[in-house]
Amino acid sequence: MDTNIKCLFNPKSIAVVGASRTPGKIGYEILSNILGYGYGGKVYPVNPNATEILGLRCYPSVSAIKEEVDMVIISVPAKLVPEAIEDAGNAGAKVAVVISSGFKEVGNKDLEDEVVMRARKYGMRILGPNIFGIVYTPTRLNASFGPRNVIPGGIAFITQSGALGIALMGMTIVERIGVSSIISVGNKSDIDDADLLEYLAEDPHTKVILIYLEGVNDGRRFIKVASEVITKKPIVVVKAGRTEVGAKAVASHTGSLAGNVVVYSVAFKQSGILPAHNVEEAFDWSRAFSCLPLPKNQNLVVVTNGGGAGVLITDTLAEYGINLPSPPKSLMDDIRKLVPPFASLANPIDVTGMISNEGYVNALLKTLENPEVGAVLGAYCQTAVTDPTIIAGLLISRIREMGGLNKPLVLAFIGGEETYMAIRRLNDFGIPTYPMPERAAATMAALYNYVKIREGVITRISKLSKKP
Ligand code: COA
Repeated sequence: MDTNIKCLFNPKSIAVVGASRTPGKIGYEILSNILGYGYGGKVYPVNPNATEILGLRCYPSVSAIKEEVDMVIISVPAKLVPEAIEDAGNAGAKVAVVISSGFKEVGNKDLEDEVVMRARKYGMRILGPNIFGIVYTPTRLNASFGPRNVIPGGIAFITQSGALGIALMGMTIVERIGVSSIISVGNKSDIDDADLLEYLAEDPHTKVILIYLEGVNDGRRFIKVASEVITKKPIVVVKAGRTEVGAKAVASHTGSLAGNVVVYSVAFKQSGILPAHNVEEAFDWSRAFSCLPLPKNQNLVVVTNGGGAGVLITDTLAEYGINLPSPPKSLMDDIRKLVPPFASLANPIDVTGMISNEGYVNALLKTLENPEVGAVLGAYCQTAVTDPTIIAGLLISRIREMGGLNKPLVLAFIGGEETYMAIRRLNDFGIPTYPMPERAAATMAALYNYVKIREGVITRISKLSKKP
């Protein structure tokens, strides 16, 4: 792995070329985010037309700084970028984050090639161009013009789309989704998904990698690297440009080739990537991977107070290839003591709509504590005899007393306003909770499918390595 890529996540110093004096301009907002999010290294604004920006001394060029600069953020019009790259490379910068648009995506490939060529002369790596920047929460780095107060967590999000990426950054804050990193890759003139996967595979703060992908430059390398990464942590991909018209839209967006949908799905299967149907599903799954242990065994048990929710969960699990086994007998003996006589003690366990707050929590916890159970999916439907916020509070305190989760617990809380308050609390605590049963079921299925896929990839790799 190129050690310069490390400077993308952990730079000791940053220069912002095109730092602007005007609030609302991209060069101002990036500098403001770097300072405001709490980055601890040195920061140098570069602008030949200014002496001071946001209280910092301004330099006319990177080479005028005369101190070591690891990372350079470039936010000047495209035609000025080659010269800025030359200056940064000459000054010894290790990585350049090129925000500027106006390259391959609008047919200006020669200009993009020149930028890469000049950077290569100095061994400097390039992220972009045509990007909104990079965030890495462990080093409090928010070198982007997206929202500032990103929540730290275990998801690394790589996005080929800029504006959508920025919007999703905002969504992660509202939905309480913690990220280790958000990386805008844009035109991928140099640093691409495979480079980032290699780095993130070894990053202890990253538990799962989520990619919004339009196209890859080097498919063979991407598959090879991805299948190695899969053995360490899951990769969830949303592939855009799945239809003929979508592929055309991709070409005019980042200048990538969207490629054939069948080729991509075969490649994902080969490498063990989890393909999500849409952005919502990708974040649902990633949230669970980022905060839960993996299933202990095939004994997945569903506990619900609503028969309908149980049926929808059973359907969704089956659609994702997961069939519910009969619950362990020891669990049934325990649950029988907690529920009305007309409760259904199959799997899903239907504790009935007349269960109380405590009754539902007790049933869930008995299931969690049963040593034969590998994972628990709880589906709660709001009723007049229960209060979702009380259930959430009870669950959190009981799980805290248990010392946390040692097997996955995924929840669906379905209902009115109070259920949304409960969902927020549970997600903040680290129990992935969704407002619909199908979303919770698809998420649980992703956990199980990852375990299966990872085993398959490990076996395949070890067979290949034994071949003479
Ligand atoms: N080195 C450093 N700074 C320079 C410079 C140089 N050689 N020449 C000019 N500057 C300064 C300017 O004076 C200006 O500062 P000021 O506002 O204080 O005067 C600042 O750099 C920015 O230059 P400006 O010409 O005003 O550009 P801009 O801010 O209007 O646009 C980009 C620059 C990069 C934002 C724009 O060209 C662009 O590409 N926008 C699209 C970005 C985008 O959408 N990316 C993809 C996201 S998903």
